[in-house]
Amino acid sequence: MVSMAIPTSISRLAAYYTRHGLGPTIRRFALAMRRTLFSNRAVLFYCDLSRQTSAPPDLPNFLKVERKRSCVELNPQDLDQIVNVWNPKLAHRRMQERFDRGASLWLIKFHDRLAGYGWTLQGRIIAPYYLPLAEDDVQFFDFHVFPKYRGRAIDWFLMTHALQMLAVDGATRAFAEAGEWNQASLSSIAMTSFRRLGWARKFTIFRHTIVCWDVEGVACHVPERPSRRFVAATDRKPSDVVR
Ligand SMILES: CC(C)(COP(=O)(O)OP(=O)(O)OC[C@H]1O[C@@H](n2cnc3c(N)ncnc32)[C@H](O)[C@@H]1OP(=O)(O)O)[C@@H](O)C(=O)NCCC(=O)NCCS
Repeated sequence: MVSMAIPTSISRLAAYYTRHGLGPTIRRFALAMRRTLFSNRAVLFYCDLSRQTSAPPDLPNFLKVERKRSCVELNPQDLDQIVNVWNPKLAHRRMQERFDRGASLWLIKFHDRLAGYGWTLQGRIIAPYYLPLAEDDVQFFDFHVFPKYRGRAIDWFLMTHALQMLAVDGATRAFAEAGEWNQASLSSIAMTSFRRLGWARKFTIFRHTIVCWDVEGVACHVPERPSRRFVAATDRKPSDVVR
């Protein structure tokens, strides 16, 4: 996400150092600095759930989506895999806080193995947001597909399924965001029913959050509804996956 708190960034970097060593950590830090200085807007997306009138799409038989509302509903392997994406101790605490606030964790399984996950929260926010949300609004955040499953539209399946399920539950609008540098995420969101709302920067100073909107969105390319990818991505064989 675009506006990460400094302690969170330090903890992520420390976890990265433990796993990858000094050289890659320096390169990762330089990349984070470049993004903070030169491509620090979020692209905001919106979806009108009242238009999601159909039932959730049938998933191919090798995919399964599960919705979890507490840590105890997760099996230990899935929990481990999720918290190990970065600092496990902090990730565990954050996960508990999210469930305590009523968030849902959506898992997507590929042949019964965890391929990705994402969070949604209805009627409340997890951190200062770009705009006020109403009771039936849902925020999508922290979607993640594990590297060996990327490029197969897994994120699309998960978001689309969650959108439909939330619409059935009576949610009215959904919001999502991606960093303007995050082409994979932008491309994946653009394939779903989400529509672009605009570009924004968010700063929190002395507990006051300032949001600057950039309606024109100059110099940031977000693909408009690509049509070819869905078929192409689901047609890919497991052997095509970049490991
Ligand atoms: C963003 C993310 C969720 C997309 O998931 P996904 O299931 O791979 O999404 P898609 O299959 O729709 O692929 C999205 C784009 O990434 C490309 N891609 C990224 N990694 C790839 C890989 N290892 N193999 C093939 N394609 C890959 C795809 O080709 C596609 O680009 P295109 O539309 O130009 O063809 C995933 O890349 C991810 O978890 N990234 C790290 C966490 C993150 O940034 N989350 C978003 C937070 S807002």
